[in-house]
Amino acid sequence: MCGIVGYIGNQKASRLLVNGLKRMEYRGYDSAGIAFLENGILNIMKKQGKVDGLDTLVPHDLISTNIGIAHTRWATHGFPNDNNAHPHTDNSGNISVVHNGIIENYTSIRTKLIKDGYKFSTDTDTEVLAIFIGALYEKVKNLEEAVRMALSEVDGTYGIAVLSSYEPDKIIAARMGSPMVLGIGDNEFIIASDAAAIISHTNRAIYLNDGEMAIVTREGYVTKTVQNENTNTAVEDIELDLEQIEKGGYDHFMLKEIFEQPETVRNALRGRLLVEKGNVRLGGLNAVIDKLRTAKRIVITACGTSWHAALVAEYMIEQLAQIPVEVEYASEFRYRNPIITPDDVIFAISQSGETADTLAAVKEARQKGATVLGFVNVVGSSIARETEAGIYLHAGPEIGVASTKAFTSQLTVMSLVALMMGRMRNLSQLDGKRIASEIAALPEKIEKVLESTKLIREIAHEYVNSKNFLYLGRGYNFPLALEGALKLKEISYIHAEGYPAAEMKHGPIALIDENMPVVFIATQDEIYDKVLSNMEEVRARKGRIIAIANEGDERIHVHADHVIYIPQTLPMLNPILAVVPLQLIAYYIALELECNVDQPRNLAKSVTVE
Ligand code: G6P
Repeated sequence: MCGIVGYIGNQKASRLLVNGLKRMEYRGYDSAGIAFLENGILNIMKKQGKVDGLDTLVPHDLISTNIGIAHTRWATHGFPNDNNAHPHTDNSGNISVVHNGIIENYTSIRTKLIKDGYKFSTDTDTEVLAIFIGALYEKVKNLEEAVRMALSEVDGTYGIAVLSSYEPDKIIAARMGSPMVLGIGDNEFIIASDAAAIISHTNRAIYLNDGEMAIVTREGYVTKTVQNENTNTAVEDIELDLEQIEKGGYDHFMLKEIFEQPETVRNALRGRLLVEKGNVRLGGLNAVIDKLRTAKRIVITACGTSWHAALVAEYMIEQLAQIPVEVEYASEFRYRNPIITPDDVIFAISQSGETADTLAAVKEARQKGATVLGFVNVVGSSIARETEAGIYLHAGPEIGVASTKAFTSQLTVMSLVALMMGRMRNLSQLDGKRIASEIAALPEKIEKVLESTKLIREIAHEYVNSKNFLYLGRGYNFPLALEGALKLKEISYIHAEGYPAAEMKHGPIALIDENMPVVFIATQDEIYDKVLSNMEEVRARKGRIIAIANEGDERIHVHADHVIYIPQTLPMLNPILAVVPLQLIAYYIALELECNVDQPRNLAKSVTVE
């Protein structure tokens, strides 16, 4: 995710800022940049790629300034390139802004500014903010006020830092939903989006609250709300060490990413859900909306966990939009010469956007004249570039090799696409509204699921010595059985298989005895009773049952040895909640087995070879 660092004090700033960026590299980013004032003039240097590239670009020995701001960008709006890298400036070139987060209403602000004669040269939402602050500054001639006025018009999330040659001894920072910390050193201040960039200077810091700003000068700082009320936010001691900070206090990136899911799902929904209209707004698909309306068939192609997301998406789209959907492994799609016509719309789902097989499948589908859409996490990745249109997941960098938060974001985005396609066809506004409000409730419900972590850990402990696991589910929960089994084998090296529960009797039932734990995803839907019967078949053979069930389901206790509850939701959304316990079971088993959770043996995060 993006990183911000700013410095004002007595030391030379440029190298210090670049080093601060290096401390945040673990977060993932695609470009880096710096703004500093030298002899009252604002200088900007930025570069796509690694911070080292920026470091080489900046002539540190020639720069004596001791004030500046810097940024590592993880693209959300516009490709990762030099131009879209931060800092961004206003039209006068005197105000620079670095920004983490997403400005949701940037299009309307931009349109208004264009009407007023302002010029834009990047694809970013951040430039809109910089130009907006510049436009307001022209009126009020006060940087703090201009920032405050701009922020009170902005919807979305931000952590920002502003540096301007108009008021050269000042940095303004602000936060809304995206962290900002002000480190307080001896005659120096370091602002950052991540305490990792601060702790080599000081362990005394103020964590800004949402809607709060810090106005920092050489003499000191004030904190205020965006409404201009003073806040006396307390100075705290940062107690974490660097390694802990990088992992957000969690032992592994995988666990951190599991716990990020309420937020990442929220980000996948941000600005996209129109609950009152029972519909969605997916700007990235505007260019192909007619194609989606007239599509005769959807083919979804992907690999690994993304392929499991595709299977859930198949059920979602067929249910809501009544269009035939096929799901195909990208590795099969690319070589078996599938029948694809120009009436088909192909979806490619990928976290990295770089998986070689998926990319090749995209090219093959285009070759056959189909409309190809990308649903990827990494902005500007190869699949994003090779597809005609698409939707980004906005899950932020996923570092743990076993995919977790990308999966729930994929399902969330697919639920939006299914809803949109349903509303283009036969889905009523009323039904759309019911579905949209359930989708909106997902982040809080995931939070609720995470409250069961202790119980899940205890259950995992009981089965740590099992040599095999079976995962069973039906309907929407069948792909989830596959995903649960994949998570376990990926990181714990325990053999696990996922099956549609009813298929058990055609083979896997032969494996069941008292040593076989069976994880049932048994949420309440039309086939719930049938799933209970499948459980009985397992119990009759002394299999041990871990059930994931909906809150309020008391019947399940008779059938299962352990029950993990998740909140009630629509069957199509159950996988987004039910996968969380599956991720945690895999994590805690792997942890006890002392496996390398974040870097499992033989696996790669991004498989860019066949
Ligand atoms: C690798 C990763 C998996 C991922 C799969 C597809 O196998 O380890 O976690 O699901 O690739 O990757 P993609 O980036 O295309 O989603």
